[in-house]
Amino acid sequence: MSTDTETQQGNGAATGDQTLTVTDNRTGKTYEVPITDGTVRAMDFRQMKVDEDDFGLMTYDPAFTNTASTRSAITYIDGDKGILEYRGYPIEQLAEKSSYLEVAYLLIFGELPTREQLDWWTNQITVHTFVHENIKSFMQGFRHDAHPMGMLLGSVGALSTFYPGAKDIKDPECRLIQTIRLLAKMPTLAAFSFRHIMGQPYVYPDNDLAYPGNFLSMMYKMTEVRYEPDPRLERALDILFILHADHEQNCSTNAVRAVGSSQVDPYSAVAAGIAALYGPLHGGANQAVLEMLRRVGKKENIADFMQGVKDGNERLMGFGHRVYKNYDPRARIIKAAAEDVFEVTGKNPLLEIATEMEKIALEDDYFVQRKLYPNVDFYSGLIYEALGLPVEMFTVMFAIPRTSGWIAQWLEMVTDKEQKIARPRQIYTGDRTRDYVDMGSRSGGEIPSGA
Ligand code: SDX
Repeated sequence: MSTDTETQQGNGAATGDQTLTVTDNRTGKTYEVPITDGTVRAMDFRQMKVDEDDFGLMTYDPAFTNTASTRSAITYIDGDKGILEYRGYPIEQLAEKSSYLEVAYLLIFGELPTREQLDWWTNQITVHTFVHENIKSFMQGFRHDAHPMGMLLGSVGALSTFYPGAKDIKDPECRLIQTIRLLAKMPTLAAFSFRHIMGQPYVYPDNDLAYPGNFLSMMYKMTEVRYEPDPRLERALDILFILHADHEQNCSTNAVRAVGSSQVDPYSAVAAGIAALYGPLHGGANQAVLEMLRRVGKKENIADFMQGVKDGNERLMGFGHRVYKNYDPRARIIKAAAEDVFEVTGKNPLLEIATEMEKIALEDDYFVQRKLYPNVDFYSGLIYEALGLPVEMFTVMFAIPRTSGWIAQWLEMVTDKEQKIARPRQIYTGDRTRDYVDMGSRSGGEIPSGA
């Protein structure tokens, strides 16, 4: 959370040395551990031993709730203040003034592009939107009702077999062309998976359309000669893509970094990110929100549902966040963008239930105490539904723009001299050194009915 120039300060202002004095009461020894950027290095605790055979102290942090895994200059979040900045630019300004491709350039190269750079970047992405015809036949092998996230996961992983040269991750030019291909082809693969579950023919990219408009064309074009995207929908989609582009070390980015740390190609690393995003606690939450709103069905049922949440029988999907303990700034912007979309598509009747649930949650002690506010997923699904998307496509809509964040984070990781293959330690709780038991001497034990 802190940056090189900032250090997090405890309750009092940092006045003394930037060190931690640790006394190991098992031995009475005292150690000085340096504090840098509001952190201490876990390896500095390995020196703390009870005897020479001792491995030394480790830190234990399941789910990394308080562990910085990397230095990063890409995205800054202040969870208490509800601040989100991409390369220092506030998300509110980027959503209002920028475009997704410009934001993708910013995340990946670190600066807003000049006109010449943006024209080059847009052209590069545009001319790489096609996928190999074999990918199409590969995707047609999926079940007719396959979940599109499963199709995206499989097809992005398969891209690594079409570009075997992508393994040369130390070569900057190689990294650049794979970056361009991933950004360009993700909407194509996403749209192909949508057309697949709709039982409609796949639509090829239209290189005369901008990034969001081309995606809408590949999704919705039917027999017309050329699909004409509604500029209001195109802009709303561009804003949604900007808002979903990156979010520092979230679950799926952590997956991309961890898998990428083995020096595998970026398609395989991004496929790992898609797999993580698929989960209902992460990107899958936007689908779970719609399913929740449909289950509540009408305003009269909200009170019972909210009681179910408080009793621990339900989870208020689209609420809560590991970092934001304030309103997710993206949720606020999406809620505003929804109005623009509803002007075109007509208001989504579930919006009324969603706003009523939000109102209750923002006033109810249970949620206030746990600092549970709407997150990016609470309102986005209402827009996707209004666009005529089935809920199975909602997380795909998250994966498309998050590709730029995953790539930016992957590039930062592969060029970070401090990084090496990710390999955490463990606290072993199992049996030790047991002799093998022959089959005849084994007894008891039911056939497992679960794992
Ligand atoms: C995304 O990390 C990112 O940046 C992710 C993301 C991104 O851009 O990449 O922002 C995108 O994934 C947004 C989050 C989408 N997920 C959901 O909306 C699913 C519902 N939310 C939760 O499951 C939960 O809030 C998480 C997973 C988002 C965060 O979980 P944490 O940080 O592990 O918090 P927790 O589960 O320890 O909860 C703390 C307390 C618990 O109560 P107690 O057991 O202490 O009494 O809050 C409760 C939880 O039970 N709680 C909820 C809740 N979320 C947390 N109770 C009801 N409804 C919820 N949504």
